[in-house]
Amino acid sequence: MPARSPSNKKKSRKARLPDPSTRRRFQRRLLQWYGEHGRDLPWRKTSDPYHILVSEVMLQQTQVDRVIPKYHEFLERYPSLEHLAEAPVAEVKKTWYPLGYNIRPERLHGIACETVERYGGKLPSDAEELLSFKGIGRYTAGAIRSFAFNEDAAILDTNVIRVLHRIFVAEGDPKSQKAKLWELSEALIPSGKGYDFNQAIMDFGAMVCTARDPYCLLCPMKSICKTYPFSRTSTEQ
Ligand code: ADE
Repeated sequence: MPARSPSNKKKSRKARLPDPSTRRRFQRRLLQWYGEHGRDLPWRKTSDPYHILVSEVMLQQTQVDRVIPKYHEFLERYPSLEHLAEAPVAEVKKTWYPLGYNIRPERLHGIACETVERYGGKLPSDAEELLSFKGIGRYTAGAIRSFAFNEDAAILDTNVIRVLHRIFVAEGDPKSQKAKLWELSEALIPSGKGYDFNQAIMDFGAMVCTARDPYCLLCPMKSICKTYPFSRTSTEQ
């Protein structure tokens, strides 16, 4: 049997990570941009794991502007996981209703009951334990670990997928490259700065590297971005 030549080798799904100097440039520019433009959001003023959980579950399917008043209202009504666990689920669903009829309030209530039963009302910080809850997936576990427990845990949501794919990959369908993008997200976190880095990349995706009409000309990542040379705005004029 002929030896496999490099060209017919199965393409690796593993990420080819950006070289260390590109990584450092990305980290430095992102954190600098965040320092100047990051949003002042209520869940960035707390490290209470329950508050972080509520904000992240609300933000899964709802825009930031609509979440802000509901976040305050929900926490006023259910100030702790114990209060939420004790409330009837039908009432929790009613409180949630302006954010839509969906499974999220039931899941949140279930997480509260399980936390009270199994962890004495305190959400764990361990990834495996968080992932064992129905309703906490890899993204939410990473968000809780980095935003509430200050760990360098990676996150990957729609915004982060778009930003990382555009800047570092620029080929293929981003949705089919999640394993690679998770690896990238993890590798890019500057040590000890998971909190700021994760908040920053979400704001960057929401405000600069937007889904439609991204602000490429103003973007601090232009010189390292694999998509920029081909973006519409860069070829105009
Ligand atoms: N979307 C999900 N989590 C978020 C956060 N912490 N800040 C802004 N947008 C988000």
